[in-house]
Amino acid sequence: MWSGPLGVGLTLEDDRQALFILRHHRRFPSTSHALVEQIGKRILILTSAAREPMDDRLVFFHAREDSSFSPMTTTPAFANLTLVRHPLVQHKITLLRDRRTPTKIFKELVDEIAMLMAYEATSELSLDPVTVQTPLEQATGFQVSGKKLTLVPILRAGLGMVEGILRLVPSARVGHIGLYRDHDTLEPVDYYFKVPSDAAERDFFLLDPMLATGGSAVSAVSSLKRAGGVRIRFLCLVAAPEGVRRLGKAHPDVPVYAADLDRELNSQGYILPGLGDAGDRLFGTR
Ligand code: PRP
Ligand code: URA
Repeated sequence: MWSGPLGVGLTLEDDRQALFILRHHRRFPSTSHALVEQIGKRILILTSAAREPMDDRLVFFHAREDSSFSPMTTTPAFANLTLVRHPLVQHKITLLRDRRTPTKIFKELVDEIAMLMAYEATSELSLDPVTVQTPLEQATGFQVSGKKLTLVPILRAGLGMVEGILRLVPSARVGHIGLYRDHDTLEPVDYYFKVPSDAAERDFFLLDPMLATGGSAVSAVSSLKRAGGVRIRFLCLVAAPEGVRRLGKAHPDVPVYAADLDRELNSQGYILPGLGDAGDRLFGTR
């Protein structure tokens, strides 16, 4: 294996091991970005190099079927992005992409994937200690500070993600942001905004199945921040590299969770391969 500020090498002692290890310091040179993007979905884990404080990260590339690593992944090219690659999520996203999937099933799948993603995205929610009485004695435990969590769907398509997450955190509040993309400019046009007044105290999950150019997401996060929001996470189902980059540049403090990172946008701003128009497929308006 190569070492030093940047090295790419092989460890082939065992098929189950990582094939490539890419070591780097704080900044990746542009050539490495290209390599990372090319390999795309084969990047399965990014982890801190605990024993090597000079290196901030090690990246392992290995065949998916050999993975024994966590399904949550991040990539150095998109430091703000976490991909939720649980097998159930991958299975359901594939069904969602299928053009033959009817509206009823599409809606159920969006709901289920949102719930599975929320399981990961809530992993850092704060807990309050509580005491309960079991049939035998007193026990100490914890409860999620659920009333502090606020779901904010971006209308319309984000609505499809609300119920699934509420099933996990029923006490969460729900705000709404109304935005649509202008067909010609692809820029967002906002028409509605309502979130709880104590925004600074809350954890926001901004919901939209699609992160395409990123215009809608950037605008929605800006609106939430103007209202006082500080802890904001963006949950989407399918993201385009363009949107992840734009959101990361405008709001580097906002973590993005996606079920899949797709290849690119087409000239009309649709994600490829994508799943088409999420709002139309959810509400049967096409
Ligand atoms: C879709 C989608 C996002 C937006 C993403 O909404 O639900 O809100 O496009 O695109 P962007 O990243 O390029 O901004 P759309 O404008 O079609 O509105 P709708 O949900 O009402 O159909
Ligand atoms: N909005 C959608 O619904 N789908 C896309 O592919 C892009 C934006």
